[in-house]
Amino acid sequence: MTDRYAVFGNPISHSKSPLIHTQFACQTGQDISYEAILAPLNGFRDTVLAFREEDGRGINVTVPFKFEAFQLATQLTARAQAAQAVNTLKFDGTVIIGDNTDGTGLVADIERNLDFILRGKRVLLMGAGGAAYGVALPLLNAGAIITVANRTEDKAHQLAIVFAAHGPIQGSSYSALAGLQFDCVINATSSSLSDSLPPLPRGDCAMPRSSSNTPISNGKNANNMGIFAPNALAYDMMYGKETPFLMFAKEQGAAHLADGIGMLVEQAAESFFLWRNVRPDTAPVIAKLRLI
Ligand code: ATR
Repeated sequence: MTDRYAVFGNPISHSKSPLIHTQFACQTGQDISYEAILAPLNGFRDTVLAFREEDGRGINVTVPFKFEAFQLATQLTARAQAAQAVNTLKFDGTVIIGDNTDGTGLVADIERNLDFILRGKRVLLMGAGGAAYGVALPLLNAGAIITVANRTEDKAHQLAIVFAAHGPIQGSSYSALAGLQFDCVINATSSSLSDSLPPLPRGDCAMPRSSSNTPISNGKNANNMGIFAPNALAYDMMYGKETPFLMFAKEQGAAHLADGIGMLVEQAAESFFLWRNVRPDTAPVIAKLRLI
């Protein structure tokens, strides 16, 4: 019998998850169906439990239900516990396993697809909301040295405190970033949704820089070269358009630019693995999504 899976959100019609999981299933020969379900804003729990009653085996969860999914789970993985949010549920009898594959998906995209190794790298994580909480632990586990900056500075410090036991992480305001450089800058804010740009300090340079020039010392940047270190990666977790952050990064000379399409597919692959114990090949799916 075909096993049922679905993504729950509100809104949900834009979701690319059915397309992604249908391709994974086709590629791996898994007999599953995958649909998009619009849950009422005040009816997430009931809709999910009804889906489980109708032979649902697992679900993905997107905005605005990731915290409710966290509360619905009866067992949590360490990364879901750390994120305080769940994007994947697996139904196993009466047990509801809650996982968060967002951060693992981000790290897989950065390291495997973009060939950018995070160990020892200075990472600026922008934002201190749900998206930033979702990725902080996997980034630390990959060996990143994190500065988290947020418009509301207190929330950046609070996030840093929550994750401090797992690796080097400190909170910051945006203005305190002036004069610092980073190897990787990740936009985990919702600024791109409103076509705005986090208030990053601006440097004078406008040329892409490779690792062979512009020496820096102690992370401080004497010549106002901006926040992007030589060979830096600028990563926007948003996808589907050139965001103000990626435009800024290009103008400021970031060597590599990436949107969140790879992360979207990698987090889906990690969910698929949790459900089916099979790893799909993500590369052809990422390539296909880029054409749409
Ligand atoms: P999400 O689940 O997408 O993380 P969220 O929990 O509402 O959504 O968090 C949104 C994040 O984006 C917050 O860190 C927010 O900063 P504040 O805490 O100061 O509100 C950040 N954000 C949203 N718009 C922004 C903008 N234009 N510039 C900088 N940060 C922005």
